[in-house]
Amino acid sequence: MANLPPSSTRTIPDVSNIPRHIAVIMDGNGRWAKQRFMPRVAGHQRGVEALREVVKACRDLGVEYLTVFAFSSENWRRPAEEVSFLMTLFLKMLEREVAKLHQNNIRLRIIGDRSPFDDKLKTSMDEAEKLTANNTALTLTIAANYGGRWDAMHAMRTMLKEHPELAQTFTEEDMRPYLSMCDVPEPDLFIRTGGEQRISNFMLWQLAYTELYFTEILWPAFGRKELETAIAWYQKRERRFGRTSEQLLGEQPQGKNHA
Ligand code: IPE
Ligand code: IPE
Ligand code: MG
Repeated sequence: MANLPPSSTRTIPDVSNIPRHIAVIMDGNGRWAKQRFMPRVAGHQRGVEALREVVKACRDLGVEYLTVFAFSSENWRRPAEEVSFLMTLFLKMLEREVAKLHQNNIRLRIIGDRSPFDDKLKTSMDEAEKLTANNTALTLTIAANYGGRWDAMHAMRTMLKEHPELAQTFTEEDMRPYLSMCDVPEPDLFIRTGGEQRISNFMLWQLAYTELYFTEILWPAFGRKELETAIAWYQKRERRFGRTSEQLLGEQPQGKNHA
């Protein structure tokens, strides 16, 4: 497919001082609440406020894409009451926040397998996406019932359904248009709050060359200042995409762009 942003394994992407795309695992809500002798779900509620602040900060800083992990394909394993609370919170958030996002020229997208969600939630998701589709200040993508493996499997399955003749020969370029985030540049910066240093089946494909930032701060306590700290850390990274430092400094001739 033409006009897709570059793949980091095929072309060396342009790098800017402010990350164009930030991907976040918003972890630590439950522990935040527990520290305050509150039920876990109170942490999720505060988590929505943290997200609101981070969205605004990204918009102000000129980040173009913010992708957040709200519910993983494995989070169904949690106690039924917590899952049901999260679904209700998601629905309320869509109902309450979408008008504000729209006023702020923010586009909302939702990725993940929507099939298990109830009809009301599905309708709300569709409407929110439709309303904000032409907004240009920031694209906020919420990953809900999302898994990196699901994304790759779903892409392959859809591609092979449309192009069975590719079964033996397909390449990265053939499959790429079927991935959830194919039209968005790969994340420059990944942030995981809550102290764990793992990907937990988030955007496995797209994180190939992303800078990974981990912080002990629990998600409800993460805000503008913490985001700025993460970006300052990012600005000190040397993004080599497989090359040497000397090449980046222009001391050696550039190698081939394509594998
Ligand atoms: C992340 O916070 C939010 C979701 C997974 C929905 P957690 O609920 O995982 O909080 P901790 O990790 O138990 O503190
Ligand atoms: C990852 O957090 C998923 C989200 C933040 C939505 P988890 O808390 O579910 O991850 P694990 O289980 O600690 O790896
Ligand atoms: Mg967690």
